[in-house]
Amino acid sequence: MAHSAQVDPAFVQAPEHRPKETISSADGVPLIDLSPLFSQRTCNTFPATLLAEVEAACINWGFFQVINHGIPLELLKKAVAAEKEFFEQPEKDKLKIRRDEANRFGYYESEHTKNVRDWKRVFDFALQERFDATGLVLKNRWPEVPLGFRETIEEYARSVEKLAFMLLELISLTLNLPPKRLHAFFEEQTTFIRLNHYPPCPYPDLALGVGRHKDSGPLTVLYQDSVGGLDVKKRSDGEWVRVKPIPDSFVINIGDVIQVWSNDKYTSAEHRVSANSERDRFSIPFFFNPASHIDVRPLPEVVSDRNPGKYEGYNWGKFFKRRMDSDFKLLEVENIQIDHFKRA
Ligand code: OGA
Ligand code: NI
Repeated sequence: MAHSAQVDPAFVQAPEHRPKETISSADGVPLIDLSPLFSQRTCNTFPATLLAEVEAACINWGFFQVINHGIPLELLKKAVAAEKEFFEQPEKDKLKIRRDEANRFGYYESEHTKNVRDWKRVFDFALQERFDATGLVLKNRWPEVPLGFRETIEEYARSVEKLAFMLLELISLTLNLPPKRLHAFFEEQTTFIRLNHYPPCPYPDLALGVGRHKDSGPLTVLYQDSVGGLDVKKRSDGEWVRVKPIPDSFVINIGDVIQVWSNDKYTSAEHRVSANSERDRFSIPFFFNPASHIDVRPLPEVVSDRNPGKYEGYNWGKFFKRRMDSDFKLLEVENIQIDHFKRA
């Protein structure tokens, strides 16, 4: 390898996990137009074609993109500008709000996925601050600069929350549940939002922006800029497919909790972020998470004698705390996964 002298081994993926030169994008993840939600929705009836599209996307991909989602584009632009300005601040200023073991919210430049360091920097904050009996601490740290950063980013997060609840209604209906069946799980939600900055990487053939993983909560609502790099593992053949950036759209993906609630009707898809040698990339995932007291198990309406529950219940708060704690240690074994709760 010509450039191996400068390569930091902490970032190097095992050969089988390195990105290949060609990534198929011929048939990409489905694109769903949500405008019927705003025009044709009367008294809680949802257009059947929209529900069919959501259902097919959740089954076939666990991923889809949405347009006409109701998030004001001005607000989206303002949030992305604030994100860029934050990451442009000197490292020593960002490090003043660095996350630590006692409180994992704030700035962090050293995330690892499956023990390999990710080529990125992040800023994390909770939608609702909270301190609960399980020892889960959701306490935010905000930078002094840029001015107005907090207000803009919080306004953006509240707007994405509305979209997240709408998507939850759609997904509930596709599981033959009343539209608001899942809402109660989110009453004291542990949702957090992450600002991602992926700087140019000198060895994109060896490192990844984010290593392959599945999102552990119910649902993720992601903004990505026009650079591209998010890859989804296609269910049908296991190939990596690039999610083509579409201006002003959002990428939605099913996480592990919906996999369990739906008893595997929907499964969370593995994804990663490829690095880029030339351009900075910015993204903003909104991790829509339930209350920490919730026990996650297949929904009683979904299971039956013919479709018995495939998972033991697990407490969301404990699981989430373990995940967050493990971010600070390199583990001997793989991180805790929902497979650990799968019945034999
Ligand atoms: C994540 C993630 C994708 C992206 O943070 O879990 O998958 O495009 N991010 O930043
Ligand atoms: Ni992810």
